[in-house]
This record gives sequence, C-alpha cells and structure tokens, in this order.
Amino acid sequence: MSFNNKHWILGLICLSLNFSAVAQGDAEIGKLKTMGCMGCHGPTGNSFLPNFPALAGQPAGYIVKQIQDFKAANRYNATMSGFALGINDADLEHIGAFYASQIKTPIMKNIAHLKTEAEKTALLTLGKKLYDYGNADTGQAACFVCHGKNGDALVDLDVPILANQHPQYLISTLKEFKNRKRTNDNERVMRRIVDTMSAEEIEAVAYYSSYLVPTLEEKK
Ligand code: HEC
Ligand code: HEC
Repeated sequence: MSFNNKHWILGLICLSLNFSAVAQGDAEIGKLKTMGCMGCHGPTGNSFLPNFPALAGQPAGYIVKQIQDFKAANRYNATMSGFALGINDADLEHIGAFYASQIKTPIMKNIAHLKTEAEKTALLTLGKKLYDYGNADTGQAACFVCHGKNGDALVDLDVPILANQHPQYLISTLKEFKNRKRTNDNERVMRRIVDTMSAEEIEAVAYYSSYLVPTLEEKK
C-alpha cells in the first residue's frame, strides 16, 4: 500500500467515525422499549429472517445513529423508516444500550445456491482476501482496518459489527451504498469503498464477514 493510500484511509477513519458522545443508556429500560421490535429483530436482537439485520452486540452509538438517520430520512427503508418515526428520542440511548448488551448468536448462513464445496471455498477465499488486504488494483481499502480482524472491533468508535450478520442483509446494504439508496455513511466512507467493488466481490466479502466469529463476548 502506498503512503498516499495509507494517508487517505487514516483520514477517512478520522472523519467517518462517529465520535458522538452517547450518554450511557439503561439496558433494562431499553428492553421494555423494544417490545415492538421483536417481531422482526428478535427478542434479543438476534433476528431469524435474513432481511432483518441482527442488532445484538452492535455498538449503542451505531444503533442510535441509524435510528436517528431513519427518523431524519437520511436513511430510508420502506419497512423500518415508519417504525423509527415511532421511537421517542428519549428512549434512543436505552434501546442502544439494550441491544449492545445482548450476545450475538450464530445465524443461518444460507449458501444453498453454491452447489459444491469448491465454489464455497472459492467465495470465502476471495472474501477473506478483500477483507484482510483490500484490492491493490482498484484501491479498495481492507475492511479489517475499521471493522476489525474478527468483524467486531473499533466498538468504541461505533463501527458496526459484521460478524454473524445475515449475509443477505450485508449484500443488500452494500449494494444500496453502491446504488446510492443508502447514503448515511459519514464522509462517504462506505460508498467510496463499494464503488470499486464488483457484485461478485460484494457477495464474497459479505459471506466472509458473516462467517467471522465475534470475540466481544469474551472481552466483556
Ligand atoms: C416490520 C419489521 C421491523 C420492525 C417491527 C422493526 N424493524 Fe428495524 N429494521 C427492519 C428492516 C427491514 C431493517 C433493514 C433496513 C435496511 O435494509 O435499510 C431494519 C433496520 C434497523 C436498524 C439498522 C440496523 C443496521 O445494521 O444498520 C436498526 C438500528 C433498527 N432496525 C432498529 C429497530 C428498532 C429499535 C425497532 C423497534 C422500535 C425496529 N427496528 C422495528 C425491520 C423492522
Ligand atoms: C475507513 C473505515 C471503514 C472501512 C475501511 C470499511 N468500513 Fe464499512 N463502515 C464504516 C462505518 C463508519 C460504517 C457505518 C456507516 C453509517 O453510519 O451508516 C460502515 C458500515 C458498513 C456496513 C453496514 C452495516 C450495517 O449493519 O448496516 C457494511 C455492511 C460494511 N460497512 C462493510 C464493509 C466492508 C465489507 C468493507 C471492506 C470492503 C468495509 N466496510 C470497509 C467504516 C469502514
């Protein structure tokens, strides 16, 4: 990686991360406020259906930012935007604290469309390469720099956890960064990255990320 590239990434890290000082919410209060969320995100934030992102273990600040972004129409989803509007601002930090305190359980990784073991290995190998090293030819930054080697780091800076997330959701949201349906990433940090990626690369890195095992539970 050239010096310029490193410089660019360091700059992006500083600009894009969410340094918002989220006050400590109360997870017990938060739990009560998430009764209406369970149907889709699961009682502990471990959702069952692949189009509903798992929220368990996400940094509180990331959860709060996303709900604020949905409320302000900086992020739009036909299903989620309406629910966000119903969330009281005073409850946001509690909801964030509740999901952050939950343990993310392994999810079903539906790769039934890959017929052979060789196809699966090839996909995960490409994903790991892009995740750990980026792509020198296209200038794609390595994901681990911000999302952590195990898909769970930089939690203090509110970067979302990718480990054990539904791959279908990861693919869909990465595609939305690319086609500009999702534009709420500070300093276009994710848009710049996915712009350099092919559909095949997005799929590979999404499956690889979802196979990562978070170590957060051990750190707690
Ligand atoms: C009817 C189903 C449904 C309900 C109920 C629902 N959500 Fe969601 N939620 C979604 C979907 C679908 C998405 C993914 C949106 C997208 O792809 O942009 C989402 C996304 C989110 C995200 C962003 C996750 C990420 O990784 O970026 C947060 C945070 C969230 N929901 C919180 C909540 C909270 C809190 C409630 C309850 C007050 C709630 N949701 C209720 C369907 C639902
Ligand atoms: C320079 C730091 C940085 C790098 C490098 C980076 N990301 Fe991100 N990523 C972020 C930040 C910050 C967000 C949160 C954006 C927001 O506020 O919505 C994010 C969001 C995401 C999301 C949305 C998660 C969710 O729950 O909705 C996915 C998926 C993602 N990144 C995947 C990747 C992949 C795959 C790579 C490598 C190809 C990568 N990122 C590289 C900083 C980075």
